[in-house]
Amino acid sequence: MLKSRELFSISGLCVAGVLLIASNFADRFITQLPLNAKTVSAELDFDFKMMAAAQASAMGPRDGKFNLGRAATKDEIAAWDGDISPDGTGLPIGSGDAIDGEEVFAEHCAICHGDFAEGVDNWPELAGGMDTLADEDPVKTVGSYWPYLSTTWDYVKRSMPFGNAQSLSDDDVYAIVAYILYSNDIIEDDFILSNETFLDVEMPNVNGFIIDDRLTSESHFWNKKVCMSNCKSEVKITMRAAVLDVTPEDEETKTNQVSLKSEKVSEPNQVNVKLEAEVAELDAELLKSGEKAFKKCKSCHQIGAGAKNKTGPHLNGIFGRKIGGIEGFKYSKVFKAMKDEGRVWDEESMAAFLAAPKKYAKGTKMSFSGFKKDEDIVSTIEYLKSFQTLN
Ligand code: HEC
Ligand code: HEC
Repeated sequence: MLKSRELFSISGLCVAGVLLIASNFADRFITQLPLNAKTVSAELDFDFKMMAAAQASAMGPRDGKFNLGRAATKDEIAAWDGDISPDGTGLPIGSGDAIDGEEVFAEHCAICHGDFAEGVDNWPELAGGMDTLADEDPVKTVGSYWPYLSTTWDYVKRSMPFGNAQSLSDDDVYAIVAYILYSNDIIEDDFILSNETFLDVEMPNVNGFIIDDRLTSESHFWNKKVCMSNCKSEVKITMRAAVLDVTPEDEETKTNQVSLKSEKVSEPNQVNVKLEAEVAELDAELLKSGEKAFKKCKSCHQIGAGAKNKTGPHLNGIFGRKIGGIEGFKYSKVFKAMKDEGRVWDEESMAAFLAAPKKYAKGTKMSFSGFKKDEDIVSTIEYLKSFQTLN
């Protein structure tokens, strides 16, 4: 308890320190506050500066300059600019093989990484772990995990041996990298690793990484066009939250509510229980009629645990699912096109589709003429929703 309180106060101090520094920075490079500073209270002023500092640290100041320090010189940049690209760009001329590498490795690296790059105590292992990446406790080494050899070369040259970084010659680095490859059974001991043979080595996990395409593949999460006015041609009350007293009243429900309200005054707890029971019942009832309405769909669609595609695709987790999004199901052209547009099922599109499938998706393969009654649509949607967590 005491310890955690200490930790807490230390981290509190750190936060305060960071905030202080941030506000100092804000003072220096923010020229304009959003409001005339004189008319702003001290607290507000502070808030603005904090916001500005946070913005500036995320995006840089508005004029693109921090006005701190001086530009790095060419020599300074060159001294750090040793990065090697996966295609070998940046590699210096040089060579070495695993036999030479074993010696250098034994001298400079083995004390921590083991004679065979297997790792000593808690120092990282550099070899082995093949085919463990899918395990619960994967062993990630240069051999099992790293996709490009350039990373190994760059890493060793730049930061190893630990505590004496950048002390190795280029040839030694080639030899050591060859030895690490040899320890991982990636090359034979007579292979000479050089700037010229570098790309002949293929790393086992080179295809184990995927390109991050979330900017396009997940754009439907944030690119939704939000309708703000005249979004529906017809607005109708399809359900009534009478017990919660939020639906505009008409004569029929009024009497109902009046009696509830009067009860509420006398016995609030009891009424709450009653209200909850009623709401649950409403859902259950809706579900029940939804299950019934779904009989019209059952000949073609499965839903529930283990549901498979039949004439139509399975309907588990349909809301939020891409329209036409089940891999391997043969959709019609119109469904494929909607998928390519990144469209996703929500309640609104589902209601429109179930009311008139052929109108909503002209050319659809789904031979169902549509529900005539709005209640069937509402209850079917409720029923579909009860399988949202399955997929
Ligand atoms: C004093 C101990 C020590 C010595 C000596 C040492 N290393 Fe390391 N090495 C480390 C530590 C600690 C790390 C992890 C560093 C980190 O994660 O920031 C590491 C990480 C590495 C890694 C990355 C491993 C991974 O999977 O992330 C490589 C490759 C490596 N060392 C190679 C070498 C080579 C080659 C030498 C000899 C030239 C060497 N090391 C010498 C301690 C040492
Ligand atoms: C005669 C068979 C049949 C019936 C009945 C039928 N469907 Fe379909 N359904 C299909 C087919 C086939 C598709 C694929 C449509 C396409 O590719 O054009 C489909 C597609 C769908 C989709 C889109 C799935 C996706 O992956 O985008 C939903 C949702 C759907 N149906 C719901 C229903 C509901 C709810 C009912 C009952 C009211 C119903 N269907 C009745 C055959 C049917």
